[in-house]
Amino acid sequence: MNQEQTNITTGKQIRHLRTQLGMTQEELAGELNVTRQALSNWERDVNEPDLNMLKKICFLFGVNMDDFAKDNKIIKSSDRVKDHGEVFTPKRIVNLMLNQPEILAKINDLTATFFEPSAGEGAFLVELLKRKLKVAMEQSSSAKLFNTKSLLALSTLYGIELLEDNVEILVMNMITTFNVEYSRIISTRFDSKINQHVLDSAKVIIQANMVQGNTLKKTTTDGSPIIFSEWKSKPGNKVQRTEYTFESIINQGGPTGTVQGATEEMDLFADTSYFDDSKKEESKMRQYTLCSWTSIYKQEIA
Ligand SMILES: C[S@@+](CC[C@H](N)C(=O)[O-])C[C@H]1O[C@@H](n2cnc3c(N)ncnc32)[C@H](O)[C@@H]1O
Repeated sequence: MNQEQTNITTGKQIRHLRTQLGMTQEELAGELNVTRQALSNWERDVNEPDLNMLKKICFLFGVNMDDFAKDNKIIKSSDRVKDHGEVFTPKRIVNLMLNQPEILAKINDLTATFFEPSAGEGAFLVELLKRKLKVAMEQSSSAKLFNTKSLLALSTLYGIELLEDNVEILVMNMITTFNVEYSRIISTRFDSKINQHVLDSAKVIIQANMVQGNTLKKTTTDGSPIIFSEWKSKPGNKVQRTEYTFESIINQGGPTGTVQGATEEMDLFADTSYFDDSKKEESKMRQYTLCSWTSIYKQEIA
């Protein structure tokens, strides 16, 4: 993390939120019933607004007080906002967006995929994972079934992120969330022990599904094509993993429409019937052996 990243202050966040809304200092000061000079002092970190004023500012911008907390910043630096459009979505907004009926329906369908083309640190993907694991729990009558269904739920979440440090945090956030939620559910709901093969397989799925690259160019940082794995459920708690280039998925019909414009979440592999078999062969990268969900960690090639 560079110096500027660690140095995002409350003042810088207020300035960013104000300019994002296209407001002048006079306009925001008017809304808050303070002088322009007082607002300017906050934005330049000469001093800080008091708690009540901070609450008022949060209300006005529709963000949480938490978003001003030290380790919960929505921006890392103004350069990164300028260069990469990097503004993280506050938790409250994530929840509002995911509570829409059509998204809820997809969350309840354990096989429905979500794709985040600009994943950041995983604001949406982490929350989707928590919700999908809850559905997996509700649909499982035993620990054994939950071991499979939790991995199936995880395998439907895909993301691309441009910046290396964000991808590292994204992967870490997904692994931590899976480990914490899986362990909690397996012990409290199923009174069972953690299966290390589930955790190891989850790690492989996350590392395959969260890719560092450029969504627009469909390439990784070294210019090679982005490759995604499809995890297809097969009878007998088995899974078939197959790799495709991101380009071939896009060119042959997917992703199939935007689920939520603002979140830019889309279906990926939502309907693989758009691949006719010959094209599927061309775009196929690698074929793994058919295996049980809990053996994914072995990554055996056919
Ligand atoms: C507005 S932020 C949103 C992050 C996350 N979705 C969230 O809501 O918190 C946009 C993210 O897209 C990334 N990004 C910018 N251009 C990109 C590209 N061409 N391909 C992939 N990611 C990109 C940025 O690094 C940044 O993390």
